[in-house]
Amino acid sequence: MAGAPTVLIAGASGVFGRRLARELLVATGATLVLAGRRIGPLEEAARELDPARCLPLALDLRDPGALEAAARGTFAVACTAGPSQDLDPALPDAAIRAGAHWLDIADSTGWVQAILRNRTLSGRAAAVGLVVAPGLSTLPCLAMVLARALREESPHARTARALLFIGNRNRKGVASVATGLLSAAGAPVRVETPVGHRPAWRFGSPLPAILREELGLEAEFRVAFELPAGFRLARASRPLGRLFGSEGLPRLFALLSRPIAGLGSDEGRISVEVEDASGVRAAASFTGRGQRMPVLPLAVVLAGLLSGEIRERGVLRCWNGFSPGEWTRRLRDRGLERGGIP
Ligand SMILES: NC(=O)c1ccc[n+]([C@@H]2O[C@H](COP(=O)([O-])OP(=O)(O)OC[C@H]3O[C@@H](n4cnc5c(N)ncnc54)[C@H](OP(=O)(O)O)[C@@H]3O)[C@@H](O)[C@H]2O)c1
Repeated sequence: MAGAPTVLIAGASGVFGRRLARELLVATGATLVLAGRRIGPLEEAARELDPARCLPLALDLRDPGALEAAARGTFAVACTAGPSQDLDPALPDAAIRAGAHWLDIADSTGWVQAILRNRTLSGRAAAVGLVVAPGLSTLPCLAMVLARALREESPHARTARALLFIGNRNRKGVASVATGLLSAAGAPVRVETPVGHRPAWRFGSPLPAILREELGLEAEFRVAFELPAGFRLARASRPLGRLFGSEGLPRLFALLSRPIAGLGSDEGRISVEVEDASGVRAAASFTGRGQRMPVLPLAVVLAGLLSGEIRERGVLRCWNGFSPGEWTRRLRDRGLERGGIP
């Protein structure tokens, strides 16, 4: 498509990379570079999605110089590769040097907070009219949109609890399994989910720190699975990780989850509840199906950059880019359901 912007999706053969590609092909006129280490799955993804608008490219993110070369002439790099604990911190700068915005769906505290606090990177991006926006996914972005809306409703709230529910029919990518194994901590507590009571584990996430810094809320974040047995088994197997190499165990459990992936719900739900000192509570949620929810914040921000509606430059706390009401309207237009306060 002549003159259409190009977006490089890093991690495009993965669960969320493919989902994002599908979203961008429908919602924008962009052509896509589908990048990752193994060319085979990228060629297959390009064939399946739209061969006329998708170009597969072998690229290893462990080499920021290779990303810089690949990103030249593109409008943005959208990174869905992970786990983000393993990403090279030089990558956003490499995109900026290439003249491309950097957007990612990272969920690790180290990655997201390091970027949000990096004034030098922010200055360099702003100086050349570009944006660096981390965490453009369920966490922290959608949870922060909900928390901001609840804060407006309940200005005296002191604490917050965020819960991510993952229905079993949502496919588990290798990087997502790896993130789960790296992030889960402690013993689970039983919580109410859309499919009844389930154990929920505390997960490391940038969300609590951002809630404290921006909204003054002391927060906890947990994740509940529809069928938790697989996650229990994967956690219990962690001591074997050294035998399998860093990707081996996540790859094994991503594979083992496939035969039961047809069971249960394809729902994903992020809910946030706030409470004030006298115990008054308010809650709100976003629900999506078929793993669309985690890629929508990135799609919304990319559309805002393409249309010129997002004018701020430098490192963005993207959840503040639109009002909570405007975020909700844009997400509803793309199929997310909003529960709780209007
Ligand atoms: N913030 C949130 O709320 C949120 C929500 C959902 C998912 N996530 C995160 O999104 C990430 C992706 O999850 P997923 O389920 O889509 O995982 P996945 O299916 O394993 O996909 C990962 C992709 O990254 C590529 N990749 C891995 N290492 C790479 C490298 N060094 N260079 C280039 N490409 C590389 C993989 O392809 P190759 O192996 O061929 O390189 C694959 O295409 C995870 O870290 C997950 O935690 C965050």
